Amino acid sequence: MNKNYWLIISILVLVVFTFAIFISKAAQFEKEGNLLTVKSCDGKKTIFVEGFKEGEKMSKEKAQVVANLLMDLIKICNQEVIAKLKEDNSVIVLNDASLILPDLKPGKTPVLLAHGGQPHTKKEIKLFESEEKRMIDEGYKVFHDSSLGTNGISCDMCHPDASNTHAETYPKFQTQLKKVATLREMINWCIENPLEGAKLKHDDPKMIALETYITSTRKGKVLEPGKH
Ligand code: HEC
Repeated sequence: MNKNYWLIISILVLVVFTFAIFISKAAQFEKEGNLLTVKSCDGKKTIFVEGFKEGEKMSKEKAQVVANLLMDLIKICNQEVIAKLKEDNSVIVLNDASLILPDLKPGKTPVLLAHGGQPHTKKEIKLFESEEKRMIDEGYKVFHDSSLGTNGISCDMCHPDASNTHAETYPKFQTQLKKVATLREMINWCIENPLEGAKLKHDDPKMIALETYITSTRKGKVLEPGKH
């Protein structure tokens, strides 16, 4: 056989080999993708639920197990956790388990779920407070500024110091809106009516600032949704 013939055979073997690796990787990913993924509200915990496919609805019992696990993981630590909930409800942590409990081996040991969270650090509390204050100040500005409307009227002209805004009574039935309304819908009603402005999206930073300011003026009040 000549040299070229061997060269062609080697290339063919290499191509087949690469293709086989690709197929097995793809199968592995497909298998992983066959798990139902659930994320926690803090965005840091991901649970892959074995026995369910993406888009499939879990039984009530299984869903409760997943919810409990998410809450437990949130209480245990602040870090990112990727865990797999096996069909028998044992848990495997897929990332560095030493983050959660120091004597756990990643990918091997089921997590022993402990209740009771860690208190926030001073740094975290400081950040929460300064962000809250920033939003209150921003809301105060928007509330005292006519730029939300078109006719020069601002919220404080009828609600000095956010008086009569009653954040603690929401959601409640509002006659103007003819339905049970949220505080944000009522804020928008006042933007569109006395101020003759365009309503804000519910996730608009100005809306969140207004809600933060208005609600902050009712700090310590008992929540009484529905109260008139
Ligand atoms: C012309 C006066 C006027 C202006 C300006 C005004 N409001 Fe109102 N606001 C009212 C009246 C009147 C009500 C109705 C109270 C009710 O029916 O509960 C009300 C109700 C509300 C409520 C619900 C209060 C409750 O007890 O449930 C909120 C919240 C509110 N306004 C926020 C705002 C915001 C935010 C602005 C500025 C974008 C604003 N208002 C501007 C007159 C005004």
